[in-house]
Amino acid sequence: MKILVTGGLGYIGSHTVVELQAAGLEVVIVDNLSNSHIEVLNKIEKISGIRPSFSKLDLADRDSCSNFFKGEKAISGIIHFAAYKAVGESVKEPLKYYHNNLDSLINVLENMKTYHIPNLVFSSSCTVYGQPDKLPVTEQAPRKPALSPYGNTKQMAEDIIRDTVYASAIKSIALRYFNPVGAHYSALIGELPLGVPNNLLPFITQTASGIREQLSVFGSDYNTPDGTAIRDYIHVVDLAKAHVVAVKRMLNDKSKSNYEIFNIGTGNGYSVLEVIKSFEKVSKLKLNYKIVGRREGDIEKVWADTSFANKELGWKAQKTLDEMTLSAWRFQQQLSKNMK
Ligand code: UD1
Repeated sequence: MKILVTGGLGYIGSHTVVELQAAGLEVVIVDNLSNSHIEVLNKIEKISGIRPSFSKLDLADRDSCSNFFKGEKAISGIIHFAAYKAVGESVKEPLKYYHNNLDSLINVLENMKTYHIPNLVFSSSCTVYGQPDKLPVTEQAPRKPALSPYGNTKQMAEDIIRDTVYASAIKSIALRYFNPVGAHYSALIGELPLGVPNNLLPFITQTASGIREQLSVFGSDYNTPDGTAIRDYIHVVDLAKAHVVAVKRMLNDKSKSNYEIFNIGTGNGYSVLEVIKSFEKVSKLKLNYKIVGRREGDIEKVWADTSFANKELGWKAQKTLDEMTLSAWRFQQQLSKNMK
């Protein structure tokens, strides 16, 4: 069975490729390298012993996308990661986000119809829930108006897929990720943010390794036990495995409906200070941080109700917060070593 992974050299994509290969599936990667590195292909090969086929391709370009599909036969399923994901940038450059994230999806769906490719796993986000009224948040919770063009592209993409599935033979599973963190245990692949990281874990590890001077903790006056915001952090390898299970569910015709949505988190919420404590424990370092004001657009707390994914997919996140922070730290140490 051949699986196409779009954005397969990116952070979540590369971990998913490794897990697909471990499950015995053949992988074809397309990636435009806009936020990823070609060396990741070698790293994947080093981990799995198998070099996936790779095409550098901009899926948002209709002709290039069609040409690729014309030449690539017998794809059984697609896992579509390829998208921009920087929330702040999306506010400044909304058209770049709408064009890239939506045109690429539409082009992929059009080619799925043309070439009768039946199965699509889509990478969605818990960002579609905004600040939920009830926690843990279930898949039935209403989606709240998006706080950014990035968040809006995830909501719109879900709707585009739902409507296309309804009107075609395509089946899809949307996975709503909570906060993916950590790295592969080999420390060969992990999160490689370009420039100053926006997300918490890369900022912590870069501060600890001296690339950044100090971590700012955004807000300590939230209505949470220690006043800092709470998220459901999930190890990227657990998340990658959820994609394998989801694609197999469709390949084996086990879906209960043609469009399914699953929360992919651990079901546990941790505050920013708890993440810092975990990092300090596993790294045996003292992190330089200070508490500052809230970051605009941040919600107070969110964590997943994962019971639907646990029951239906037979999948459950395994890794602890300490394993997440330790693997992120090992990856950063490896990166720093390579820079010397
Ligand atoms: C963000 C995106 C989300 C995306 C996710 C993973 C928003 C609103 N959401 O989630 O759509 O799926 O990244 O890419 O941006 N924090 C600090 N100091 C820092 C960085 C973060 O205190 O330097 C805090 C934040 O305030 C937040 C928590 O750490 O409470 C997690 O932040 P982050 O890693 O950026 O993820 P989200 O904002 O939850």
